Amino acid sequence: MTEDFSEEFLSTILKGGRIGHSLVFFSEVDSTNTIAFQLAVKGAPEGTIVVADRQTKGKGRMHRVWQSPPGCNIYTSIVLRPKIAPAIAPQITLLAGVAVADVLSAWFKEGVTLKWPNDVLLRGRKISGILTEMKTSSAGVDFVIVGIGINVNMSYAQMDGLSHGLATSMMIESAGEIPRSEVIAGLCKGLAGLYTGFLDHGFEPVKKRWLRYCDMIGKPVQIAFKDDIQNGQVTGLDDDGALIIMNGSGKRQRILAGDASIKKER
Ligand code: BTN
Repeated sequence: MTEDFSEEFLSTILKGGRIGHSLVFFSEVDSTNTIAFQLAVKGAPEGTIVVADRQTKGKGRMHRVWQSPPGCNIYTSIVLRPKIAPAIAPQITLLAGVAVADVLSAWFKEGVTLKWPNDVLLRGRKISGILTEMKTSSAGVDFVIVGIGINVNMSYAQMDGLSHGLATSMMIESAGEIPRSEVIAGLCKGLAGLYTGFLDHGFEPVKKRWLRYCDMIGKPVQIAFKDDIQNGQVTGLDDDGALIIMNGSGKRQRILAGDASIKKER
């Protein structure tokens, strides 16, 4: 399949949307998040989208590398300027997770789940990750950069050994190539709708939808953050995006950062 993933085509299909009206396209870049951050510092308007065909220094959470080979995936970063306090900015990450889960659900009727804080899984394997970065000032949030990577047409051969069994792509799960432009267009439209709803009605509706996609509630989990390991049962999600767990002694704990894994029950 030959797909049109050119700057010209993408700007045509994204034209006029709340998200994507201004496209900055690269065939190769270090990281779309780095570029979007620099553009936002220079005043890029809300809804500016940076897209690359390949990243040479794709950034993941916790200083990990995000594998970003050419010609197959979506690497995008979006500038948002919500008038919110920095403490609730994690809500934007969760909102982006719902937008990605929604767009994937258009292709896969079942099996799309969200894993706190920001992994999107398909049939239990990671297919997308979200990295938000923000700049604040005394007035609050100046801007948030929502960086989204979606494995669209990546093959197992393009993944490093570590990812085997843990990661997947839309093509692997559907046995056919998928036009990235359609995925980006759906993502921008969905994200714009959710973001508008969030600004008008707050986080509650987003939280409800996030919880519907999350299959961790009630399950025993282990959360690793640096050298710290916490165990407990997931009971919910806080309004600031923290995961709520109940530990072995029945104490409620708010988890603000870390890698969560569901423990196998014996
Ligand atoms: C994660 O660790 O799960 C987050 C991965 C985020 C990757 C995306 S790809 C587009 C944007 N640019 C980056 O360098 N990272 C994000």
